[in-house]
Amino acid sequence: MRQHVNPLSKVFNVIDPIPPLKDVFNDISKPIHFDIGCGSGEFLFNLAKHNKNWNYVGLEIREKLVNKSKTKLKDESIDNLFFAFGNAEYLIEDCIGKFPSDIISSFSFNFPDPWFKKKHHKRRIIQPQFIHKISQLMANGGYISIKSDVEELFEYMDMTIINSKYFINHTNKDREISNSYNPTNLKTNRENYVIENKLKVFEKLYKKIEY
Ligand SMILES: C[S@@+](CC[C@H](N)C(=O)[O-])C[C@H]1O[C@@H](n2cnc3c(N)ncnc32)[C@H](O)[C@@H]1O
Repeated sequence: MRQHVNPLSKVFNVIDPIPPLKDVFNDISKPIHFDIGCGSGEFLFNLAKHNKNWNYVGLEIREKLVNKSKTKLKDESIDNLFFAFGNAEYLIEDCIGKFPSDIISSFSFNFPDPWFKKKHHKRRIIQPQFIHKISQLMANGGYISIKSDVEELFEYMDMTIINSKYFINHTNKDREISNSYNPTNLKTNRENYVIENKLKVFEKLYKKIEY
């Protein structure tokens, strides 16, 4: 089993910022979806190939995975996908005020690292200050989707997002899925593993409100 990367390590204090959108995507008028902790990026490659009317950004703290994804991206010449290496919170912080909020449409947190021990909870990716930064970057009406197979982590993420006051539960998910960043309900690698092993997927969607 792989070792989790400690996102609070000093190594990750410095980021390589995401370049201006015109240098990243072929058409910058499309809505943008951010996948946080995108792992090998396969989910995003599938999304980008199937949904040409969206731009996708994958953020990942394991540099080797990002380098592999970047190489594959060049080989496949896909123009609506970008990968950035680093602690996602710092990468997002850098985007505030740099990218137009009206095209930042949604974020996904798919099966983030659980960091079970209480003393390690501050390494969990969803933290109040990170949710605040996402709310500053994204337009009202934007979405956050969370998924996990760890109930305790799911409850912690849910509580953190709801307590932020910037987001509300979004219940009529099915009605809007066709307009979402993932209209055909593609699965991540971890989700496929969870389903194959008949484990439970906990999931929820939130909508950003005016606050
Ligand atoms: C369990 S894996 C899930 C990968 C993928 N989302 C999936 O569903 O298959 C969690 C991923 O989040 C990444 N990650 C954890 N903390 C992060 C952070 N602060 N910033 C960026 N990526 C992070 C890990 O390196 C790992 O690749």
